[in-house]
Amino acid sequence: MGTVVDAQNMKYGRKVIVVFVLGGPGSGKGTQCANIVQHFGYTHLSAGDLLRAEIKSGSENGTMIQSMIKEGKIVPSEITVKLLQQAMQESGNDKFLIDGFPRNEENRETFESVTGIAPEFVLFFDCPEEEMEKRLLSRKQGREDDNMETIRKRFKVYMESSLPVVEYYSSKGNVRKIDAVKQVDAVFEDVKAIFNSTIEKVAPYEDFPTSLNTKMP
Ligand code: ADP
Ligand code: C5P
Ligand code: MG
Repeated sequence: MGTVVDAQNMKYGRKVIVVFVLGGPGSGKGTQCANIVQHFGYTHLSAGDLLRAEIKSGSENGTMIQSMIKEGKIVPSEITVKLLQQAMQESGNDKFLIDGFPRNEENRETFESVTGIAPEFVLFFDCPEEEMEKRLLSRKQGREDDNMETIRKRFKVYMESSLPVVEYYSSKGNVRKIDAVKQVDAVFEDVKAIFNSTIEKVAPYEDFPTSLNTKMP
């Protein structure tokens, strides 16, 4: 697997921006990512969606991925990172929302070593389990893991393996926490404020004509 970027997140003289979108199952990551795509031009890559597409495609790993999702377990990072990397390369974009990833330390380390990309920041949707459970049980997207038995397992994995990743980035001052229990529009107001201040920070890459976007030696 080749890296997506050369060094310091640079690709063809432009900075590749990755925002990790984390939060428990049902906290609203996918819902808010769709809004961010509309307003800020990011490409949304949901690790869970990519894994579900891999099952549907009939790939050799499909059966294994399917049974892991049913059990709420985290699929080996090698598989997920490869899918993310392919999707990034195919998108032609240089701004990505990576949703539901990294889910554990292994995910984080593999992504970092394979792609060489460090996230701009982590958008963290903070939501009580009770509310997440209610949302998952009424999601009605025909998902095999939105049942009470699997939901319990997913919550346990989230607490034990995923929250430590949020804590890791938090200790580096790299987490933007959102109160995800509010209504969808209210949550998006908070999300917008975060992305608006980030855009200010990276504006030079957006504002200059393409011809000036090449990094000078
Ligand atoms: P995630 O991607 O974090 O698992 P989703 O975005 O799929 O979560 O949301 C889970 C369910 O909850 C969906 O049915 C969605 O429509 C609903 N939902 C999302 N955000 C909210 C919110 N702020 N308030 C109430 N329901 C929400
Ligand atoms: O994020 P989402 O709820 O769509 O994830 C569904 C399932 O996909 C997870 O419970 C897990 O089994 C699998 N997954 C994974 N590794 C990730 C993201 C999702 O194994 N990084
Ligand atoms: Mg989702």
